[in-house]
Amino acid sequence: MTISPANQKNWELLEQNDPAVYNAIRGEEKREMEGIELIPSENYTYPEVFAANGSVLTNKYAEGYPGKRYYGGQEFTDIVESLAIERAKKVFRCDHANVQPLSGSPMNQAVYLAFLKPGDTVLGMDLSHGGHLTHGHPVSHMGKIFNFVRYKTHPEKQGWIDPEEIMALALEHKPKIILCGYTSYPRDLDYSIFRKAADAVGAITMADVAHIGGLIAGGVMRNPFDYGFDIVTTTTHKSLRGPRGGMILCKEEFAKAIDKSVFPGLQGGPHMQTIASIAVTLEKALQPEFKEYTAQILKNAKALAETLMAGGAKLITDGTDNHMMVVDTTLSFGVGGTEAEVALDKAGITTNKQVIPDDPNPPLKPSGIRLGTPAATTRGFKEAEMKQIGEWMLDALKHHSDDAYLAGIKVKVVEMCLKYPVPGVSA
Ligand SMILES: Cc1ncc(COP(=O)(O)O)c(C=O)c1O
Repeated sequence: MTISPANQKNWELLEQNDPAVYNAIRGEEKREMEGIELIPSENYTYPEVFAANGSVLTNKYAEGYPGKRYYGGQEFTDIVESLAIERAKKVFRCDHANVQPLSGSPMNQAVYLAFLKPGDTVLGMDLSHGGHLTHGHPVSHMGKIFNFVRYKTHPEKQGWIDPEEIMALALEHKPKIILCGYTSYPRDLDYSIFRKAADAVGAITMADVAHIGGLIAGGVMRNPFDYGFDIVTTTTHKSLRGPRGGMILCKEEFAKAIDKSVFPGLQGGPHMQTIASIAVTLEKALQPEFKEYTAQILKNAKALAETLMAGGAKLITDGTDNHMMVVDTTLSFGVGGTEAEVALDKAGITTNKQVIPDDPNPPLKPSGIRLGTPAATTRGFKEAEMKQIGEWMLDALKHHSDDAYLAGIKVKVVEMCLKYPVPGVSA
């Protein structure tokens, strides 16, 4: 009996019936195999995740939660969702897990909508200092519905967060939620600062660990639950290496409100193929090799940061404690973030332009770039390769308008990449 889809046959059908999409996917495979991926929010997922994500579970509606669904035929969806929930609780050491958020933005929205009324105050991190759009940036719907007060980092403290500012802002604005977590801050957090401020004003503590969820799972960065945090949100596709998705983890007392907020509050049918893939990812995160992998991500980030700084790059906070670096390319090399991103692309190294704290330039023409090591580490690169990549980057930034020079670097980049297969993609 054949019960699994004939995978090869599916690809042949796609090639025959929709060559435009087929060729774009094949093009992306080649791009991923031949280039160095340094965007800190990206990773190469597991071959097993490709299997679960492309499975029949994509056919199934499963509104509700395991054992309480609004459709029949749930004997297998209940198994995969229960596995994902139990594994999430074990990995992050928490009481409750909701694995249904469709991605990182809806996971944060579901938390706000569970506990806030329009106009209520949230204390969160300013975007140019490291916070995410969903942390109340004025262009986001959340920023329009709720009153976000923003803390910043401080140049006089080497670009770090100031604990006294967090407490002072909490006492002044009495937020309902105190939110920490970031998308472009290269340090670990002292969660006790936020917990203390929340205790002073009776606020809920929320940590958005979208970027560092995998590093917390691997035990190489602090876990907010160890500091008494109430709610932790994380994406599943960044350092955790899973499918694109989001999870909300919380103490038992918040569980009911969170579940109601995700469904029926914000979403309809959960993506069961993603939830199965999250279950697979979390089982991987429980293995000892995952700890080693996450430790290597940090070692690789340090090696890259040191090489870049030795070559004259100004890194925000002068280094990194996590997987990520923010480089002020304007100050270091007289090259704006957009030009730096384009030049590095031409050299086969993918990065993203990035605003720096209080950037005088607009988001599409910012002053810097952001780098990270999860994908490079997945591929098997270690400190020696990161050092080599750092040298190529310095070279590329110094010759940013010399296309022939950049093409010369790309030849060496491709040669190195082809020695390190991309899991589930390279033959
Ligand atoms: C801290 C943080 N929260 C939330 C998100 C949103 O995730 P998504 O892009 O999956 O909606 C991101 C994405 O970069 C993020 O960095």
